[in-house]
Amino acid sequence: MRLQVFLSRSGVSSRRHAADVIRSGKVSVNSKKCLAPSFKVDPEKDKVFLENERILPRENIYLMLHKPRGVTTTKRDPHAAMTVMDLLPRRFRHLNPVGRLDKDTTGLLLLTNDGGLINRLTHPRFNIEKVYRVGLDKRPGPADIKRLEKGIDLDGKYTAPCRIKMGPKNDLEITLREGRKRQIKRMFAALGYRVLDLKRISEGFLDLGRLQQGKWRSLTREEALMLQR
Ligand code: URA
Repeated sequence: MRLQVFLSRSGVSSRRHAADVIRSGKVSVNSKKCLAPSFKVDPEKDKVFLENERILPRENIYLMLHKPRGVTTTKRDPHAAMTVMDLLPRRFRHLNPVGRLDKDTTGLLLLTNDGGLINRLTHPRFNIEKVYRVGLDKRPGPADIKRLEKGIDLDGKYTAPCRIKMGPKNDLEITLREGRKRQIKRMFAALGYRVLDLKRISEGFLDLGRLQQGKWRSLTREEALMLQR
């Protein structure tokens, strides 16, 4: 790993500022001053010091939160009554949400300090399947379901094919491989339906399971390893 990346991942500073810190001559690797931000270090073996302080690699943290209604998916928003960060202990305040759920959407939200993973999970190229439980104002007929599954025009761009499984009454489950802004609400609105209730129940191989609203849990070691892969 580049020394600059190691320092920023360890929480010393932003990546750009880390390069300045290194060039200023304050950083040593195995007791030798190092002035090159691109110098390669092994985070497990090399001893990196900033002046007299040993810099240790920060471990990656992965949490799953069951987001309740009325909570905003953001790190900081002075106008939000409550953000997802308010539901976590202070020691997790440095984590970032992976993607976002609307304020009135509930369900599975991942949070992590693993920036690489956030990029991979939110990039359309990776096509992670997300399953949502949807409650509508009326029951859609088979023709509308077919149209939605094939893809519909939202602001001049067709939605990718998706799967819909009808449930009882006006409920259904929809599996998407993309995540455009307010996508599900806009897809149903385009055909004259209103989404009254929206809950994300899984993302890739991760299920919300029995996690209660407003509660969080750490991913198990196996889940974290599978995510990284
Ligand atoms: N689609 C929406 O419309 N809202 C969400 O929060 C997630 C998917």
